[in-house]
Amino acid sequence: MNRRAKWIMAPIDTEQAGIAFVRAFGAKKTVKKASLSVSAIGLYAAYINNKRVGNAVLAPGWTIYNERVQYQTYDVTALLDTSNTLSIEVGAGWAVGNIAWGTKMFADQTSLVASLTILYTDGTREEIGTDTAWDVYTTSILYSDIYHGETVDKTAEIKHLGKAIRSNYKTKLVAQVGEFITEHERVAPVEIIRTPKGETVIDFGQEVTGYVEVRIKAERGARILLHHAEVLDKEGNFYTENLRHAKCEDLYICSGGEDVFKPSFSFQGFRYVRLSEFPTEAIDLDAFCAIVVHSDMKRTGYFRCGNEKINQLYHNVIWGQKGNYLDTPTDCPQRDERLGWTGDAQVFARTAAINFNVKKFFTKWLGEMAIEQRPNGGIPEFIPRCKKNRGEYVAVATGWADAACIIPWEIYLAYGDKKLLAEHYPMMRKWIMYLHYTGPEEFLWLGGDHYGDWLAMDHGEDSYKGATSTDLIASAFYANSVALLLKAEKALGYDTAKFEERYRKVVSAFREHYLPNGELRQYPDLNPNGISDPPNETQTAYALVLKFGLCEEKDRQRFADRLAEMIRENGMRMTTGFLGTPYLLHALTENGHTDVAYELLFQEQNPSWLYSVNHGATTIWEHWNGIKEDGSFWSKDMNSFNHYAYGAVYDWIFGKAVGIEPMDDAPAYREITLAPHPDRRLGFADGSIDTQFGTIRSHWYYKDDVVYYEFTIPAGVTAHLTLPSGRTETLGEGTYHFAE
Ligand code: BGC
Repeated sequence: MNRRAKWIMAPIDTEQAGIAFVRAFGAKKTVKKASLSVSAIGLYAAYINNKRVGNAVLAPGWTIYNERVQYQTYDVTALLDTSNTLSIEVGAGWAVGNIAWGTKMFADQTSLVASLTILYTDGTREEIGTDTAWDVYTTSILYSDIYHGETVDKTAEIKHLGKAIRSNYKTKLVAQVGEFITEHERVAPVEIIRTPKGETVIDFGQEVTGYVEVRIKAERGARILLHHAEVLDKEGNFYTENLRHAKCEDLYICSGGEDVFKPSFSFQGFRYVRLSEFPTEAIDLDAFCAIVVHSDMKRTGYFRCGNEKINQLYHNVIWGQKGNYLDTPTDCPQRDERLGWTGDAQVFARTAAINFNVKKFFTKWLGEMAIEQRPNGGIPEFIPRCKKNRGEYVAVATGWADAACIIPWEIYLAYGDKKLLAEHYPMMRKWIMYLHYTGPEEFLWLGGDHYGDWLAMDHGEDSYKGATSTDLIASAFYANSVALLLKAEKALGYDTAKFEERYRKVVSAFREHYLPNGELRQYPDLNPNGISDPPNETQTAYALVLKFGLCEEKDRQRFADRLAEMIRENGMRMTTGFLGTPYLLHALTENGHTDVAYELLFQEQNPSWLYSVNHGATTIWEHWNGIKEDGSFWSKDMNSFNHYAYGAVYDWIFGKAVGIEPMDDAPAYREITLAPHPDRRLGFADGSIDTQFGTIRSHWYYKDDVVYYEFTIPAGVTAHLTLPSGRTETLGEGTYHFAE
């Protein structure tokens, strides 16, 4: 951004209508290179001579705008002529429109900053920046909002609002940190439905995040009103109650000529679109297409197996990530939420980093997290936090705030970047400080306000919180976060003495408090201060104890056996929620119960992954039985059909079934454990990941009673193979075949 660029704004408050900042300029000599840098408080779309600049959408992305905002730089050499018009449209977006159950979270009005630098072949240079000489116009966008949608009126008269005025918005401009948000697949409609209510609905066959493009020639002034939904109800009618207050509506008014409509500053999560108003009775499906929008991450992971339902589950995991990795790892893309919930993000981080390269994506979001970290180390429940709405109060919840340790470690494990880990280390450490000083006990986390094992099934049909003691969960995550901090210290070559000591104390306090005499304590007699939850025996409690290594070695197998037994007693079904589920199958496999882990994977009764697959899911559902057996909905207010958290099962499928897992001491998959767990019902499994060394692949299949294995290891990677028979080998570069 050159120094001539000043923050400017419209001379009047245009609320959520789009405005355009316009500047004419000449380029009289031969241009060698021209580059345009732009940022906004709000969202922008830049045009030179009516041609769109770059392919980013929803720029400049979502940051804590009052702390920092990204700017993007585009090479615009090819767009310049001798006389030019630069026009930058600006809309409300996350900064000024509705987000986090309120409006104007980061600013009352939109602002723009931009600069154009032209280098001529004769060595001279020209700089143009936003200032009060720019003209401001209305645009055809009459309204735009992330939750509510966009209104575009191609008949609207474009008015000159006057010259721009200086904006006194205070923030730090930073060059693009994350990935650009861009358009991806164009999904064609699969059918048009006339619902029992008589409504006309287009089914795109896949839940996506993005928007619908409509190409149409209709009478001037004709209206197209689109509503978006994820599912139809049991009668087959268009269902929007689970969107809560988000209107999810786009209104287009036709010019009379050939129009192409799509929103510039909004997106929706949907599979179905209702034509609430449309100019003609006859509908040409070719006029519609759903454009998928997400952060421009490179795909790195692939998987196929011999079971079509599991393949669909994997498809749903991928589409859950596409649908929610839109600059911020959001919980869901459709209702009046779409927030960077830390718990959801940490649960899915390993899976995300197998599927796609998420290094830049998380670098940006973890940067926001560090900014949001409170002086006492507390990490807010979602990030960016919307302070205006939430006030000074920061909800710090176990399993959510622990994202501060879990995600930096996962990103290090996936990509091996020590510099990045070192950058995140202070945040990790400060989080441990918070744990140390919160609650009445130094080495346990008792009390506090938690989401617990969110949406678990062991606390009654309508409960949001599972039955597992939140005190137990909080103390278990405390230990896990200290363990991760220690791993980071070791990786970075820092002195580990202080936190080794802390870790020992936290684990021994946990054992004393929750596992006296090698039993999971089950009686409500433990809380001298009268706070919170008595411990109890749940699947999640065992999964956490086992996965976080909290019990004594001599008790481990007994605990794992008890966990397997509880699952059997429950008809081979889990009862776990957001915090227990990601660890459950790992805890079973790591302790000799892979058969039970597979039973859970193949389970089709609620709660299970395949339940949603059997009910037509094309993404991962928020609640195990978001649609109940009788076709009714689990709830109105917490029932997203695109919530990736339970998709974390893929880190078990890839890590344990396919058998490829990274190793702490040699991250980025430089060394891996290669320990496939074949299962006849899967038939075959073929999984791969593109690492910085090349593609690692593990493929196994059954033929008669023999399992055949084929592994591909690229140069630079060492695989420590263990086959089910117990046979071990160390493999370097090459393709290998085994059978047993
Ligand atoms: C979100 C979750 C989130 C939770 C906190 C919900 O409204 O959609 O995914 O983690 O709140 O418990």
